[in-house]
Amino acid sequence: MTWHVQTFASVESTQDFLADLLQTEDILEGTVIQALEQKKGKGRQGNGWVSPMGNLYMSFLLRPSCDQKTASQLSFVIALAIARAISAVLQDETVDVQLKWPNDVMIDGQKCAGILLQSHTDKDNNLDAVIVGTGINILSAPDQGACTYLNAYDCAMEDRRPLAIHPFRDVVLDAVSHYYGIWRKDGFQPIRQAWLDKAYNKGGAVKARTKKATEEGTFIDINEDGALLLEQADGKVIAIHSADVYF
Ligand code: BTN
Repeated sequence: MTWHVQTFASVESTQDFLADLLQTEDILEGTVIQALEQKKGKGRQGNGWVSPMGNLYMSFLLRPSCDQKTASQLSFVIALAIARAISAVLQDETVDVQLKWPNDVMIDGQKCAGILLQSHTDKDNNLDAVIVGTGINILSAPDQGACTYLNAYDCAMEDRRPLAIHPFRDVVLDAVSHYYGIWRKDGFQPIRQAWLDKAYNKGGAVKARTKKATEEGTFIDINEDGALLLEQADGKVIAIHSADVYF
């Protein structure tokens, strides 16, 4: 996979920047928009993403040849890639990098990176492109919630300390190429298994607040669609497709 990186000092949101570019130009798969800071970073479910200087903010374009539903599997592909990149630069092998459903990357139980997927369809409603946004905390993390950042740990990259953003970006993009290649060749099964091996709180109690109800159960698996499978007290297994999840 060839990456075409453009880096900007400051934008409102790399996600919106790339979406605008997609409307006006015929852009290639592998186009990457990176910003050193974002003034209006976007998170999942309408949240903001606090984006001061010092962290990695980028959005990149993928053009998978599949339908929109299958493309949602990409959030697991990207989460695995970020986990691989983080593990590659952290020196301390006792540090645990885990993946929290649907697509947070955690270090020792604290969120270090988030992923935002936006599908774009053509006029016939076929999938045209997916914009993948990733925010990875390197120098700092927001005060609210249980969040962490890479420089809180021992990092090593070409003997640079603290971790430098641009070389780390390339490690992330290499890892995306790796898992995207596996997904395109072998499908979701190997991705699902690798993701489950790193899953945060698998076998633990979960509360999932969907639009309709709050469901409680034990997190036992994810299915083909990437839905979270919860086993309820009566043994019934339910699939959660979209929810605020509390582990
Ligand atoms: C989340 O809520 O966990 C997802 C956060 C995604 C943030 C990234 S930073 C780069 C890209 N541009 C944005 O405005 N958002 C994504």
